[in-house]
Amino acid sequence: MNSAVFSQASSQILLLNNIEVVYDKYSLAVKGISLNVEKGGIVGLVGPNGAGKSTTLKSISGLIKIERGEVRRGTIEFEGRRIENSDPEKLSKMGIVHVLEGRKVFSELTVEENLMTGLYSGGRRLPPGQSDFDLVYSYFPRLKELRRLRAGYISGGEQQMLVIGRALLMRPKLLLLDEPSLGLAPRVVTSIFKTVTQLRDNEGISIILADQNARTVMSVSDYVYVIENGRVAMAGRPHELAQKEEMKEFYLGLSREGERSYAVVKHWKIRRRWV
Ligand SMILES: Nc1ncnc2c1ncn2[C@@H]1O[C@H](COP(=O)(O)OP(=O)(O)OP(=O)(O)O)[C@@H](O)[C@H]1O
Ligand SMILES: [Mg+2]
Repeated sequence: MNSAVFSQASSQILLLNNIEVVYDKYSLAVKGISLNVEKGGIVGLVGPNGAGKSTTLKSISGLIKIERGEVRRGTIEFEGRRIENSDPEKLSKMGIVHVLEGRKVFSELTVEENLMTGLYSGGRRLPPGQSDFDLVYSYFPRLKELRRLRAGYISGGEQQMLVIGRALLMRPKLLLLDEPSLGLAPRVVTSIFKTVTQLRDNEGISIILADQNARTVMSVSDYVYVIENGRVAMAGRPHELAQKEEMKEFYLGLSREGERSYAVVKHWKIRRRWV
C-alpha cells in the first residue's frame, strides 16, 4: 500500500462499506449504507422517521443483535478491525459507546449513582474516584448541583446530560448519540450540542450524531449524511449540503413557500413511501 493511501485510511476511525441490515432475518431496514468517520470528527445523520438512522447506529455498537437484527452484507471496520455482528459488550470495551434514544436513566438512583453505572459498564473494577466525576461535572456543571437527586425527578435536558455524562465515563473513542434533541427546548439543545463539540475538541472523541433536528446537526457536524429509506440520499460538508434544493426544502425549512416545520417534512416523507 502506498503511504498516501495508508495515511488516508488511518485517519478514519470507522468505515461502513455498503452494509445491509435485517431484523428477524428478512425485514430489510438498511439497504446499503457506506459512511466514514474521521478520527476526532463529528458525523451527522439526518433523515425522516424510519429511515434507518438508529439501525445504523445499532449495527455499529452491536446492539442490533439484541433486537434480533444482523448485518447481512457489507463490512464495518473500527480502527482497522472488522467488527460487524460483534458482541456489544466487546465493542463497548473497544471504545464504542452508544447513547440510546429516549434518555434511559435509572430513575430511582441518584444522578451520581447513575454516573457510576457508566464506570462499571466500562469494564472497570476500581471504585470511582472524584476525578471521574469531576470530568463529567466539568462538561455538565448542572449535574454536580443535582448529584444527590433521583434521576427520575430531573428535567429532560438534565437527563440527556446525564446519559452523555455516563457515556463519557466509559471513556469512548467513538460516541454514538441517538436523538439527543428529541422533545427538548431549543436553548437546551444548543447547550447540549455545544458540549458535544467540546468533547470532540478537548477529549478527541469521534462522534456520530443521529438527530431529526437537521439545522442543529448541520451546525455542529464536520460531515453529514442524509439517510432516506435505508440508503444515503445525500452527503457532504454542511456548507455544501446547505446549498442543495432538497436539503433546503425538506430538512432546513427554507422552501420558496416559506418556512416548513420538520413535522410537515416527516409527513411528506411518510406519504411518499406509502402512496
Ligand atoms: N427492532 C426492530 N424490529 C423490526 N424492525 C425494526 C426494528 N427497529 C426498527 N425497525 C424498522 O427498521 C426501519 C428503520 O428504523 P430506524 O429506527 O432505524 O429508523 P430511524 O431513522 O432511526 O427513525 P426515527 O427517526 O423514527 O428514529 C424502519 O422500517 C423500522 O420500522
Ligand atoms: Mg431512530
